[in-house]
Amino acid sequence: MTSAMDSGAEMGQGAAAASSPDERETQKRVRPIPRITIQAFCEDQGTADILQQAAADRRLAKAHVTVQMGGIPAAVAFYQNAATPNLIIVESVYDREPLLQDIDRLAEVCDMGTKVIVIGHVNDVVLYRQLIARGVSDYLVGPIKPLQVMEAIADIYVNPEADPVGEVIAFVGAKGGAGSSTVCHNTAWAMSRALRSDVVIADFDLPFGTAALDFNQDPMQGIAEALSDPDRLDAVLLDRLLAKCSDRLSLFAAPGTLEWEYDLEPRACNTVVDVVRQNVPYAALDVPHLWTSWAKDVILQADEVVITATPDLASLRNTKNLIELIRPARANDGPPHLVINQVGVPKRPEIPVADFAQAVGLNPTAVIEFEPHLFGTAANNGQMIEEINDKSRQAEIFHELAFVLTNRVEPKQQTRSLFAPILSKLNMKKTG
Ligand SMILES: Nc1ncnc2c1ncn2[C@@H]1O[C@H](COP(=O)(O)OP(=O)(O)OP(=O)(O)O)[C@@H](O)[C@H]1O
Ligand SMILES: [Mg+2]
Repeated sequence: MTSAMDSGAEMGQGAAAASSPDERETQKRVRPIPRITIQAFCEDQGTADILQQAAADRRLAKAHVTVQMGGIPAAVAFYQNAATPNLIIVESVYDREPLLQDIDRLAEVCDMGTKVIVIGHVNDVVLYRQLIARGVSDYLVGPIKPLQVMEAIADIYVNPEADPVGEVIAFVGAKGGAGSSTVCHNTAWAMSRALRSDVVIADFDLPFGTAALDFNQDPMQGIAEALSDPDRLDAVLLDRLLAKCSDRLSLFAAPGTLEWEYDLEPRACNTVVDVVRQNVPYAALDVPHLWTSWAKDVILQADEVVITATPDLASLRNTKNLIELIRPARANDGPPHLVINQVGVPKRPEIPVADFAQAVGLNPTAVIEFEPHLFGTAANNGQMIEEINDKSRQAEIFHELAFVLTNRVEPKQQTRSLFAPILSKLNMKKTG
């Protein structure tokens, strides 16, 4: 068996380093922000640039963000004659007293319901307390980072108790038949069991999707009905449209017929993913191998992206192109995950895993051997790999993938404090 999960260290020099667990924790903690209006008034061009970077992030795709210069005085002048937005972000380079005086002037022109985040340059706890006492939502000490700003905004507008937001993992194949759906279904199944968490598989391959077959379910209108009238989709309808595969795993199944043509709208896909995200802790999106505006959008908006590739030249080119498109478009996220699948087909020449990793600049998160009997039996029986052989290395890989993709540590390996995410958050706030 070729190296797997943690073999990254031996891979090619050119391969990109993944984010650290703490960085990934922050990336995940920061949830997509609703359709609010945000206006920022900066003093420093560097801060304005960071806010522009945040504004271009997928998490702020729905919000309307404008960034201008002039700090608090410019904001006060601007709102003399204009209604204030949902959120104002102001930067000040002053110390406690002059900054508080500026904030008091801003408060006089603020409408009810407008929130304020202050970016300052002094690390002063007394100032922080006085700002909070005046109703300021957060005080960040510069120099700031894009994720830090997004986290501060998400803390105000995305309340995890009232509005649980799930994590979305998009699976896409580097070429047709690479095994992306197989990886998606087996990993989602492992997630539902190992994490004891609810998972929905959404099969976006409407005419040819195999999720219903793989779970031995009758094909249903499920996802097609949701996509045809996305604004009608709510928690109740979602429940009705989902096929239950097990206690914790449900399927947003594709019709799997050619009775209709399916020209999907990016907005419809987005709305459907949003509703799933609001109602289920984990969504595994089975995205077919095609390049349309909706498929691109679904991939770029996901929390994690998994590219499944076979070790050949066409997959290599496509993987490289996908990574080169995904990385800059998701600058505040970790790189996509690469699964190299069907390694070791007898008599078929292939690109060695290390060379593949070096060429695409990314270490594989998993490498899966070609096992026609195991995978063929599972596919024909409508079963998962673990159900066919729970001792197989392949079942173990899907189990490990479930933990890696959700940034969980397997209980037996857990060495970090349970409070680590909270501590790292406090630490980030403190050090700014
Ligand atoms: N590691 C493997 N060893 C052997 N067969 C495999 C392996 N992985 C997947 N397969 C088989 O390859 C076939 C294609 O898999 P799958 O449908 O998951 O690919 P896909 O990338 O989703 O394809 P499509 O482009 O049609 O969506 C299936 O029959 C599956 O059982
Ligand atoms: Mg598929």
